[in-house]
Amino acid sequence: MKRFAPIAAAGALLVALAGCAGGDAGPGAGGDDDIVVGFAQVGAESGWRTANTKSIQGAFEEAGIELKFSDAQQKQENQIKAIRSYIQQQVDVIAFSPVVESGWDTVLKEAKDAGIPVVLTDRAVDSKDDSLYVSFLGSDFIEEGKKAGEWVVQEFADADSVKIVQLEGTTGAAPANDRAEGFADVIGADPKFEIVASQTGDFTRSGGKQVMEALLKSNPDVDLVYAHNDDMGLGAIEAIEAAGLVPGQDIKIVTVDAVKDGMQALADGKINFIVECSPLLGEQLVDIVRKVVAGEEVEKRIVTEETTFTQEQAVEALPDRQY
Ligand code: AHR
Repeated sequence: MKRFAPIAAAGALLVALAGCAGGDAGPGAGGDDDIVVGFAQVGAESGWRTANTKSIQGAFEEAGIELKFSDAQQKQENQIKAIRSYIQQQVDVIAFSPVVESGWDTVLKEAKDAGIPVVLTDRAVDSKDDSLYVSFLGSDFIEEGKKAGEWVVQEFADADSVKIVQLEGTTGAAPANDRAEGFADVIGADPKFEIVASQTGDFTRSGGKQVMEALLKSNPDVDLVYAHNDDMGLGAIEAIEAAGLVPGQDIKIVTVDAVKDGMQALADGKINFIVECSPLLGEQLVDIVRKVVAGEEVEKRIVTEETTFTQEQAVEALPDRQY
């Protein structure tokens, strides 16, 4: 078992070897099969999350690195317990995707004091102390919200007023906060866009369906649904169809993720536009772990590359879509 202490450096982070336990010769000395990583996953709330878990587990297996994996079932207290257990087990690196943004300082400080580097994957924490983690790998969620907003502005260029229902992700989660912010920044420039209702569907299909069913009763004349992920958009489609309306026509839908089911709905014309959020973070996370364990510099922020999809682009991309 190797022990490490992270040291912040300008714009990057150098992780230095602090000492070795159990007679190990040093970082990387025994190869990848010496490394143990603890990963605390959010849960299995969406198609995106399932693909993300598969990508991470597959990449670590391929690399021959031991991965201890836990599923927090979307509860912060479960993630904190898992992180504490990884600290106790003296893993080499802890990686996790925080359920919500706030409330992490204490447990991250415990990891830091134990000399265990932490990598944030997918979602950020809102801590003021960025020495509590070595790197944050994931999407720019504000940018994703902006891309959704830009499509809406174009799509409704000739409309006089646009009534929007927003299906929010998990309350307090970085993608829910940031996708709302980016979207509002763009549509806020024109008062004809009005968010008539905004509620959480917790990033799940059933949540999206339930919320949309209720919101349709109070807002039958809604023009657009902006769902923070595909799953909630797919749930909204079910609610819209059950109300005797045609999704994609009577009510336009824009979502984020671009998982296969979402892309199929886009190809079928039930969703109108998707902003991609890639769950394929496994290989990059393995790279970061290797560098951290070897005492090499890692970038503090690694932004995932992603695109957007129209119906035509979805039809073209679907046959090769991995997730
Ligand atoms: O953090 C990424 C988000 O979490 C994805 O957009 C969503 O589908 C997932 O549950």
